[in-house]
Amino acid sequence: MSRLQLFVVVTPGLERLAAAEAAEIGLPAARVRVQHGGLEVQATERQLYAIHRWARIPTRVLLRIGAGTARRWDELQGVVREVDWGRFVAPGAPVSLHVASHRSVLYHEGAIAERVAAVIDRPIARGDDADPAQTAPAVQAVQAVHVRIDRDRVMLSVDASGELLHRRGWRTAGHRAPLRSTLAAALVRASGWTGDVPLVDPMCGSGTIAIEAALAASGRPHDREFAFQRWPSFERGTWASVTGTSRPDRLTADVIAADRDAGAVAATREHVTNAGLDGRVQVVRAPIAAQTWPDRPGVVVVNPPYGRRVGGDDLRDLYATLGRRVADGGHRLAMLSADPRLAAATGLEFDEAFTTANGGIEVRCLVNR
Ligand SMILES: C[S@@+](CC[C@H](N)C(=O)[O-])C[C@H]1O[C@@H](n2cnc3c(N)ncnc32)[C@H](O)[C@@H]1O
Repeated sequence: MSRLQLFVVVTPGLERLAAAEAAEIGLPAARVRVQHGGLEVQATERQLYAIHRWARIPTRVLLRIGAGTARRWDELQGVVREVDWGRFVAPGAPVSLHVASHRSVLYHEGAIAERVAAVIDRPIARGDDADPAQTAPAVQAVQAVHVRIDRDRVMLSVDASGELLHRRGWRTAGHRAPLRSTLAAALVRASGWTGDVPLVDPMCGSGTIAIEAALAASGRPHDREFAFQRWPSFERGTWASVTGTSRPDRLTADVIAADRDAGAVAATREHVTNAGLDGRVQVVRAPIAAQTWPDRPGVVVVNPPYGRRVGGDDLRDLYATLGRRVADGGHRLAMLSADPRLAAATGLEFDEAFTTANGGIEVRCLVNR
């Protein structure tokens, strides 16, 4: 069987966790290659659909649809012409072109886009409106096509995901610095939590970590539209069989999301309801020192404030309180940390699970020993 060549885009730093997740979804390790910023995957149509239904760490999935070498315009257009565009874009349906060229004879990205567009022969959505990640639902019907040229080697891909995958659909309330749900999923995975012991996020903000954890442990799929569902080659029967399979609900322990801030707690409550998790995530307003945590050892997963001072309290005290509570309860801690001195203030010893960026800041996921 000829396999689809996928590039599963992952935030740099999360690739190995994404590969472990892919293995659980049923992708054989021999068909997954970890690269910087993603996974090269050889997949069946069914596996492409299953990744979208179940994977929590990837940002988007690109399907490689053509490749070749081009130093002249006719060579580039020859590579584009070889693609059976009718499989991915219905006649008359709009596409957006995302061109990047490096170290190549054909370097002018605007001119490359023009030559490619002439062959694809579909309306081209232009400007910011053309980026499906940035735009309103109507524009998301635009099929994104990626053209990469590196050292004269052309790679053509179509975006299989549409709206970015970290957009789960439950986030409605504004909050300062929410964590991306894909990074929250990676944190939860790094903590080793699977749903059978309590999980606490004592500084939950808008609730991302607790919600991601509860959705994953309870075996809930992503229930939204993906770009591949608009492809003329979309296999309805295969999709129906993927959506017809379920995963076990392994959430048997308490999930607690707490924050001292009233606005954060209100946002978390709204998000828990939106995610269909009422009764499965407890939302509590209290500062960490006054929170009641389950009295059996569990897992604490947290994205504490990184700034020097928050709300007038010294952050060292906050981290010291966190460390004391974790040690007293015999809990496992997985924490995002941007500052080794604050991590040290917990008094705990850590191993580093991964390093990535959050909102442009380098952060480490630390797990206590
Ligand atoms: C970086 S934000 C967490 C963002 C969250 N992960 C999200 O996805 O929205 C840190 C949170 O810690 C909370 N916080 C700060 N000091 C606290 C304390 N002493 N007790 C409880 N929460 C605290 C803040 O109110 C803020 O919501």
